Amino acid sequence: MAVKLKENIYWVGVVDWDIRDFHSHETPFGTTYNSYLITGEKNILIDTCKEELCSELIFGISEVINPKKIDYIIAQHSEKDHSGCLEDIVKISGAKVITNEKGKELLSIYYNTDNWEFIIVNDNTTLKLGDKSFKFILTPMLHWPDNMMTYCIDDKILFSNDAFGQHFASSKRFDYEIKNYSFHYAKEYFANILMPYKSMVPDIIEKLKCLELDMIAPAHGVIWCKYINNIIKKYEDWIFNVKNKAVIVYDSMYGSTRIMAHSLACGLMERGVETKVYDVSKTSISKIVTDVLDCKYLLIGSPTMNRNVTPNIGKFLTYLMNIRPYDKIGVAFGSYGWVECAVNKIKTVFLELYYKIVEDKCLTIRLKPTTEDIKKLKEFGRKLADIDYD
Ligand code: FEO
Repeated sequence: MAVKLKENIYWVGVVDWDIRDFHSHETPFGTTYNSYLITGEKNILIDTCKEELCSELIFGISEVINPKKIDYIIAQHSEKDHSGCLEDIVKISGAKVITNEKGKELLSIYYNTDNWEFIIVNDNTTLKLGDKSFKFILTPMLHWPDNMMTYCIDDKILFSNDAFGQHFASSKRFDYEIKNYSFHYAKEYFANILMPYKSMVPDIIEKLKCLELDMIAPAHGVIWCKYINNIIKKYEDWIFNVKNKAVIVYDSMYGSTRIMAHSLACGLMERGVETKVYDVSKTSISKIVTDVLDCKYLLIGSPTMNRNVTPNIGKFLTYLMNIRPYDKIGVAFGSYGWVECAVNKIKTVFLELYYKIVEDKCLTIRLKPTTEDIKKLKEFGRKLADIDYD
């Protein structure tokens, strides 16, 4: 279904209501693949969608123009959620494909591009296509080497591809229709997809501050219109600001590690630290890491199970290594029966993430915490909050 953004500019994307797992990022409400169509002297399509949803994309385009009449496709990113229909649309229309060198390289591996006519752009290239002028902003490794954004100079719209996206399917297309939800899902998206590359973001934000922006139109989720400054400010916060917040993630077999987690939480809370406690077996990892994004303390607890962490904590640690939330104070804890292994496994991950590790004997407990152990854990939580780490 086509939705008008401005005169001659339309959203023609696809709502994927059914997807629930986007590369381990839980998507309880699905997502959208946003394609945009600009009509006029030349017809320009920005990005496509997953291959299996191609007929829906073509239907949306057809509500505005005959797809055969597309002159250019701007391929901002070769990942298949945005490039999956390129072959079909190029075949239908014979459109020229505008991308960067890296985009061309990756697209040429995914697809048979022998007969495609490419126009290669670099950072800051401007192109006049019919009656519209565009400036291209390359954003490599946000989150693939080929990512780029497209700024429509005449209409002051930034097509930002993956940046500023949200995995959130709804019948709404604009931020003012679902304000708070969109920030929530933007944060979750940032934490799960962009966190490993967040060091790239400040330079891009600086570039964007030089642009007049009426809209930021990402490749997933709602289009930012009313809350453009807010979402840019949120990105800056998520990059730079660490809250006085602790996230405690644990798994427990018979409750001992759970008691440890809760006792540590009591100590931290007594010192006014905002504290979140998650049983990893009951909460999706993508939700937990959204809280990890801006926390100061990350405490991970696991019982020792067959000389290792539990499989649930193992999965969480793998995810953590994948998204790499650096600059935390790490605490590993857990119970054990006859040989302690889990705490050391967790510490290995902390070391790889360059965490400042805080240790204490009270953090490993044999089988069941005593009343004295609980007191010590609460005291550890208080001390953890009191230490000056600079
Ligand atoms: Fe939404 Fe990196 O693709």
